Amino acid sequence: MADRMKDSLLQNLERLRKEFPAALAQADDEAKLLEVKTEFLGKKGRLTEVLKEMGRLGAEDRPLVGAAANEVKQFLESEYDAALRKFKAAQIERHLQADKFDVTLPGRPEALGHLHPVTQILDLAKDLFERLGFVTRTGPEIEDDFHNFEALNIPVHHPARDLQDTFYLQGRKWLLRTHTSTVQIRVMKGQRPPLRMIAPGAVYRSDSDVTHTPMFHQIEGLWVDEGITFADLKGVLSLFVQGLFGASTQVRFRPSFFPFTEPSAELDMSCFKCAGKGCNLCKGTGWIEVLGCGMVDPEVFKFVDYDPDKYQGFAFGIGLERLAMLKFGINDLRLFFENDIRFLRQF
Ligand code: PHE
Repeated sequence: MADRMKDSLLQNLERLRKEFPAALAQADDEAKLLEVKTEFLGKKGRLTEVLKEMGRLGAEDRPLVGAAANEVKQFLESEYDAALRKFKAAQIERHLQADKFDVTLPGRPEALGHLHPVTQILDLAKDLFERLGFVTRTGPEIEDDFHNFEALNIPVHHPARDLQDTFYLQGRKWLLRTHTSTVQIRVMKGQRPPLRMIAPGAVYRSDSDVTHTPMFHQIEGLWVDEGITFADLKGVLSLFVQGLFGASTQVRFRPSFFPFTEPSAELDMSCFKCAGKGCNLCKGTGWIEVLGCGMVDPEVFKFVDYDPDKYQGFAFGIGLERLAMLKFGINDLRLFFENDIRFLRQF
């Protein structure tokens, strides 16, 4: 009787040892594995059932069956651990396979931007003037009356002020500079001749149509020294225009007026489209207006304490957008400021 009991328990244990690995092998995910474990090793599991039965064994049989039960328990646990490890490894392997990437594939090119057409023209112009010894200077965009008007020989009631469509700030205390000629004054105030500078920057006028925007850019130029003549002006500006539009470009000077230069002139260049024959770009004249210039008015020198009997100079002001329009064949100034990428990409 006692022997039958003992044998049957040992058989049960053997059955657990055999069935457990088979049950684990059926499980196809971690949750199922755990279910199998609970079925065999859980508090109400099949091994616990066997252990409960042991109470009915005689004292002499208990050590043997107990040792067998322990051994089976350890076996089941290590089988479970091994199955779990295999599962995790398979999972990692699956991820590695799925996330595999081909390091030999060529890269996807990043779209490279480029400089705005106005900046391109500015860089070209800077380069040309730097080769002639001009250094680049800058000044503030918010200015006062003195630097924008008075020191440039445009007194309070001078009609030239009306031409400028000035944006005033805080009553009339400040203004947005209407031209880069303000930088002439600032540089001359801070430095004795000789000086040779350009000053690129934004300027503002309350004006808006196909050829005018409230903000645009100019390059100011100024060369002051003893014995500077109109011939120097012609030489420098001819080189500049030919540098931008080609060596065969002709220039001519038309009398003009600016309060801060005397004499003053507009520089025209021969039309690069029709080579001077007359077309729609040059409105049939064969000439295109490029910039304003002149010899620095002695009155201006007085405002900056330069001796007008000792020093002469010339100055010029170039509209950058206008140059870019000519250079790139663009017909609407406003395109420069809309920054539509489809437009910008073309230059
Ligand atoms: N400041 C003038 C303008 O904005 C241009 C200019 C500059 C003319 C220097 C002569 C000399 O119209």
